[in-house]
Amino acid sequence: MGILVGTHGRGSNMNAIIDACTRGDLDAEVALVVSPIESNQAVESAKFKGVPVRILPYAMDDYAQALVQALKDAGCFVVCLAGYMRLLPKQVLDAFPGRVLNIHPALLPKFGGKGMYGMRVHEAVVASGETESGCTVHFVNERYDEGAILLQLKCSLSPSDTPDNVAAKVLKLEHQAYPMAIQELINRYAR
Ligand code: GRF
Repeated sequence: MGILVGTHGRGSNMNAIIDACTRGDLDAEVALVVSPIESNQAVESAKFKGVPVRILPYAMDDYAQALVQALKDAGCFVVCLAGYMRLLPKQVLDAFPGRVLNIHPALLPKFGGKGMYGMRVHEAVVASGETESGCTVHFVNERYDEGAILLQLKCSLSPSDTPDNVAAKVLKLEHQAYPMAIQELINRYAR
């Protein structure tokens, strides 16, 4: 598979996926990590783990075509967004139909959509007095956070939870959910 990280890529989901593959908990291989910038935490970590990295700046000529080519050249079948904060070009969605996943730090369809990312999500969850939160792995389409849901993991919230500790609880779930969801997708193709 290929993993696309964003400009500020922290890489914790990327790491969870790579580590699940290394442990044999996920029957797949991360063949390529793509980043828009030369250096961020995700890039450094991928290199440290020996995973090939390609740098493709968003503003480059023929970005979409270069991205598809890089993923195909690396032999990727599945593409995972992990901190990739923008809409994926249609050309990429068309090249990997039904095989592009994203993870969102809330229980979609609530608390998703344009501008709903990072701490804003957890602040909104706490402000609305939700009794549970969690994460959602979903298929990517041409709209933010609207593709079909593949898997959700939930945690309960108490009135004393702050956005910061909701973020920590949810991130822990994300690291379990993403490898599980990728395995589920792979199994669907193997059946
Ligand atoms: C995660 O919270 C994910 O849900 C969202 O972006 C964040 C990426 O974090 N789409 P990391 O770079 O994987 O640590």
